[in-house]
Amino acid sequence: MQTNDVGILSIDQGTTSSRAIVFLKDGTTVSSAQQEFTQHYPNNGWVEHDPEEIWSTALDVSQQAIAAAKKQGVNVVCIGITNQRETTLVWDKLTGEPIYNAIVWQDRRTASVCEELSDKLDMVRSKTGLLLAPYFSATKVSWILDEVPGARARAEKGELAFGTVDSFLVWRLSNGKSHVTDATNASRTNLYNIHSQQWDNELLALFNVPAAMLPEVKNCADNFGHSDPALLGEAIPITGIAGDQQAALFGQGCFKAGELKSTYGTGCFALLNTGDVPVSSEHKLLTTIGYQLNGKATYALEGAIFTAGANIQWLRDGIRVIEHAKQTQSLAESLSYDHGVFMVPGFAGLGAPHWDPNARASLFGMTRNTTSAHFARAGLEAVCYQTYDLLTAMHADGMPSNSVWVDGGMVGNDWLCQFLADILDVQVQRPTIMESTALGAAYLAGLQFGLYESLDDIASHKHVEKQFSPQLDKTIRQGLIDKWEKAVQATLAFTH
Ligand code: G3P
Repeated sequence: MQTNDVGILSIDQGTTSSRAIVFLKDGTTVSSAQQEFTQHYPNNGWVEHDPEEIWSTALDVSQQAIAAAKKQGVNVVCIGITNQRETTLVWDKLTGEPIYNAIVWQDRRTASVCEELSDKLDMVRSKTGLLLAPYFSATKVSWILDEVPGARARAEKGELAFGTVDSFLVWRLSNGKSHVTDATNASRTNLYNIHSQQWDNELLALFNVPAAMLPEVKNCADNFGHSDPALLGEAIPITGIAGDQQAALFGQGCFKAGELKSTYGTGCFALLNTGDVPVSSEHKLLTTIGYQLNGKATYALEGAIFTAGANIQWLRDGIRVIEHAKQTQSLAESLSYDHGVFMVPGFAGLGAPHWDPNARASLFGMTRNTTSAHFARAGLEAVCYQTYDLLTAMHADGMPSNSVWVDGGMVGNDWLCQFLADILDVQVQRPTIMESTALGAAYLAGLQFGLYESLDDIASHKHVEKQFSPQLDKTIRQGLIDKWEKAVQATLAFTH
């Protein structure tokens, strides 16, 4: 096949924006478009998105990227979708209208439900690889069914559909013809058995979710349906789907057991490929499906941190001590290691390895000399210390790493990457194509469409743009880690 005029559209529907990128087979970007959308915080700890805004922004950016690619002579032949995971939608199967806003992964409204179910934790963990937390979809679906008048009865009659964002987008793109998802997104719901690779009746009963509303679960590279010609100009096959963190793992070409990637977006998610073994964690890491091809699951061990870029967003939009995220690099560089301020960013509770949805953010060590530089540096450092906690937990679970591939909006910041290498004490590798998430979905779509022959073919496109090696004096490093640990313990103690 002649491939230089053939493009793959990747739709990356994230937590704060919808993006679309048209890639060539070798990962070159032909065109891209991005639109931010509104975050709704209707109550303390609640986070919602308007499904119509998710849809309209995703459609708009896709149309723009396709049109721009066409102008350059590149024709989109297949579509890959990647998405913020766990975020939950319920819609009417007849009209396609959502019956409630999308409840976002960060939302903690169902924390007390999870506490009430705590005696079922072992059963849930053994089947799903997850924990009992408001983060996952199951309690969110049930909340919608309980709170929207008449919803539960309608769901039981098969009138309503549940889906994560990928599922909703395919439904809308295919004009209601496909109600599908992929194994990675299904593996984040708390309803899917990652061993038997199917929806699990015991879990459905526990969370009170009717089977009639579930999407069909497919491989990550599969035939998910076609876009309606009225939307994207022609019927384009949708041939790849993965949740955004799994897509980044795939986009980083981490196909071998032991390969690790860490993505710094709104949150930070480190995924370690564990091959065909679903490694179960003793340190509150998640066991999840990394990708599924031809019915075969490749598993991953995941450490999830709820805020990373969001720390910097808070500094910019919340307390307005900086104007632009980019400033944080020079502000951080202006201080020395002993600046003394620590941020524990529990803005949405603390994820791995603590899993405390009730934790709150804290700042330690301020004096009258504390300035915006300290805030910026503490916000960046916190992301590195939290990644250190994840890798320490992986190590304790018998899965040590000596290098990590990084990606996501924050890793353009060289200071952050160097401090990360210093604190992790491992090599940090930044790839040439930093759009790993979107690229992963494009690779999956291209694989199914026949543009790639194999995973080796895909991995041949991977290159290091810059490598960061640990340089920090070991005593200074240990001193910083000790202080961070004290700050975390104090934060947890304050919560309880
Ligand atoms: O699990 C939530 C995750 O998928 C969100 O990713 O990139 O929007 O922070 P991101």
